[in-house]
Amino acid sequence: MVTKFKGTRDYFGLEAKRFELTTSILERVAKEFSLNKVITPTFEKTELFSRAVGNDTDVVNKEMYTFNDRKERSISLRPEGTASTVRLALENKLLDNNGQEDVYYIASMFRYERPQKGRQREFYQFGVERFGKDSAFVDVETIMTAIKILRDLNITKYELQINSIGNSNDRAKYNSSLKEFISSKLEQLSEYAKEKYNLGNVLRVFDSKVDSDLELLKDAPTIFEYINDESKERFEQIKNLLNEHGVEYTINQSLVRGLDYYNDIVFEFVSTDVENLGSKSTIIGGGRYDSLVSKFDESKDVPAIGFAIGIERLMLAATAFLDANTTTSVDNYVAVAYEEEAMQNAALKVANTLRQKGETVETDFSKRKLAKKFELAEKHNATNVYIIGNEVAEGKITIKNIKEGTSKEVNLKEI
Ligand code: HAM
Repeated sequence: MVTKFKGTRDYFGLEAKRFELTTSILERVAKEFSLNKVITPTFEKTELFSRAVGNDTDVVNKEMYTFNDRKERSISLRPEGTASTVRLALENKLLDNNGQEDVYYIASMFRYERPQKGRQREFYQFGVERFGKDSAFVDVETIMTAIKILRDLNITKYELQINSIGNSNDRAKYNSSLKEFISSKLEQLSEYAKEKYNLGNVLRVFDSKVDSDLELLKDAPTIFEYINDESKERFEQIKNLLNEHGVEYTINQSLVRGLDYYNDIVFEFVSTDVENLGSKSTIIGGGRYDSLVSKFDESKDVPAIGFAIGIERLMLAATAFLDANTTTSVDNYVAVAYEEEAMQNAALKVANTLRQKGETVETDFSKRKLAKKFELAEKHNATNVYIIGNEVAEGKITIKNIKEGTSKEVNLKEI
């Protein structure tokens, strides 16, 4: 027996239905916000991710599935969707006219992480990327898209955390002060944090998940002390708008996100649903990334903002909603009462007629006894069983309503 890889999963039966319901809600919200769907390839040139996400990030440095193809070209399975979407937008000239385009994707991503509940090596993301729009209203509206999704899935146990990380000049200044702080604590930090420090991109020390590192970093200077006035002003505006619209949030000054492309507003929706997700699991992460497009095409100055939701984590957070709204039921179950071939053909016709009317139909052409067929129909949660028996010769069949326990004979023409 060949089994699947650790950190990957199969979807079938009820779980596949739950996935389908979740993605249908995601698609619906995408429509409400007038987002256009994009589908990008599963693999890209490695350079796309190393340049966009950053070489010092865990995502690129430690977690990416990278290999050479048969012609020795380095390719990577996509670890996230933003870089691919920027490439798609540029390559297909979506940003050429006014530079504005709002898109979404639902796609699997690949990261070589240690698998655990809600953390996989292949996982699905729903992502939103909005190009060419730069205002606090767009920032807040983007956050509201995420909130709408959580609301539609009846998810209430979460905390919205926000921060501003200013522009790249601010971060360069902050980097040197943080470096100073960290060098004085180096001995007490984990090997992970030391490695990040030695790589030079000290901000990435905040990506550490080691408790003692996080405790030490609480005393570190915060990025907010270094950000420029315009960024401060934008952050104030965002906070005011969130307050005005009744959106609760907390400011997390050590929130810098694990990817290099961000500036100004960054945000995460962190679950407080310990039962379904464990402690401190981030369901949604995003932020502004105004200089990513120009990194790939210098002639373009296109501000952007987006976020991505981990669909598996979203489904865990939506456990109650999905339990209440998914069944593996079928509406109609067409069973042949006897084995004669002519009746099987009549059954096929009845099934096709029902499907023509848009109904869900399962057929049972087997030689099982009728009682067994009823049992199966019930197991499949069918409402009606259409029984094709001898009377079909006179153009009649029997419909049994399993839920109500009633039967009636009907004319074939009536269905
Ligand atoms: P990210 O924070 O790396 O951001 O991932 C977003 C979400 O994907 C996480 O909050 C989490 O729910 C889910 N996720 C990440 N890794 C895993 C994993 N190994 N297993 C299960 N779920 C996972 C991004 O990917 C950015 N591209 C988001 C973005 C879009 N920023 C701007 N636009």
